[in-house]
Amino acid sequence: MSNERKETVILGTLVHAPVRGELEVIHDALVSVSANGEIVKIDKSGSTTYEQSLVAARKDPQLTTLKDGQYLLPGLVDLHIHAPQWPQLGKALDLPLYDWLQQCTFPLEAKYADLEFARPNYSSLVDNLIANGTTTATYFGTVHLEATKLLADICLAKGQRAVIGRVAMDNADECPDFYRDPTSTVALDETRAFIDYVRGLSGNSANRVMPAVTPRFIPSCTDTLLKGLGKIAHEYDCHIQTHCSESDWEHNYVLDRHGVNDTQSLDQFGLLTDKTILAHANLISDGDMSTIKQADCGIAHCPLSNIYFSNAVFPARRALDFGLNVGLGTDISGGPKADILSNCLGAVNASRSLEEGVDPVLAGSERGTADSRVSYLDAFWMATVGGAKSLGLKVGQLSLGYSFDAIVVDTTVANSNLMVWSDLDSDADILQKIVYNGGRNNIEKVWVQGRLLKGQ
Ligand code: GUN
Ligand code: FE
Repeated sequence: MSNERKETVILGTLVHAPVRGELEVIHDALVSVSANGEIVKIDKSGSTTYEQSLVAARKDPQLTTLKDGQYLLPGLVDLHIHAPQWPQLGKALDLPLYDWLQQCTFPLEAKYADLEFARPNYSSLVDNLIANGTTTATYFGTVHLEATKLLADICLAKGQRAVIGRVAMDNADECPDFYRDPTSTVALDETRAFIDYVRGLSGNSANRVMPAVTPRFIPSCTDTLLKGLGKIAHEYDCHIQTHCSESDWEHNYVLDRHGVNDTQSLDQFGLLTDKTILAHANLISDGDMSTIKQADCGIAHCPLSNIYFSNAVFPARRALDFGLNVGLGTDISGGPKADILSNCLGAVNASRSLEEGVDPVLAGSERGTADSRVSYLDAFWMATVGGAKSLGLKVGQLSLGYSFDAIVVDTTVANSNLMVWSDLDSDADILQKIVYNGGRNNIEKVWVQGRLLKGQ
């Protein structure tokens, strides 16, 4: 069977937000996608060529026409996932971060030494994330080179765009004997081996699956390892992902050990680049924000995970207004939901709690932090454009020259909580309802790089 794809054309209502705070809706758009999955033409009704293009498209067997109530949106970008924690999704959230890692998470991740354990779990995770509309996924694997290579193989075979890292963690003071790199040299050698493997994968010439240097977080790494990883990232010019100033315990640990915040420490090790994703960054200072902006890093805001582990609400509005690249992450399984739409709602809700405050004992005037809210449209922007900018990828919007990573949201399916009244709801209302109540059943089609991964 040939794997070659043909050009495709989609006719329907396109909804995206290339500019933060601005919703763009194009009714009856004709979107042409080249055989290599790039958006090569967008005809808008009323343009001089539109009628002609429509007549031609209607004769094209490759035409997909959306029905009333269906909307073409950019695919969703998840900036922070722990792939091995998939079996733990939705449980074990009653412990603080340190105890959760030691008692639940490290023992689970250690099981991925066994490829027969890893294979079905990774396969199920990627299938489910695609079904939820996650077209780009940013994954931490485990310390196991072979299992992490398997995750890359699975993403490549199933068609998901992915950034994947073999986790590095060698600090014997913070990591258990049963789950740790034996030496920094092993961690560095296997990090290189993983990058070489992903870049050399047959069928990955378009770099749809990308490697990331992945120090778990400062506490789990020795300084020798952090320094070596910084060097590798520069040598290979690849992505970097790590956790940054997530919780009081973690933030204070780094202050004690290095005398500076995570951001400054990571910078000193050469780990802040325009390809770095910092998960959480809840406790960053204004100075840290400047450093992050200067380095052009991305932040993975994980609002549902933060409820359980962070001791604080990430100041998403302040970070966005500061001009930082902020996207959203599920943080499976620190966050209990596997989809980015739930995290859009989480981001809106968390920001409203920050703005209003949470302690009813305080007077209203003293309770909150003014001007902290993000809107549903900001959340949608983070879920698409913010994530794409953070990773430096031409996805997240349905514009000329971008990869066709897209989803069709169907507001008419029977088994869903998404209800639209066409005579009452504006385009903006409909997107807001998608963000608030859209779910897996509403995601009717999913494409990555023009390849249809869900629907027909
Ligand atoms: N910090 C270090 N490891 C982890 C992890 O697996 N999840 C979260 N949320 N934080 C971490
Ligand atoms: Fe995490």
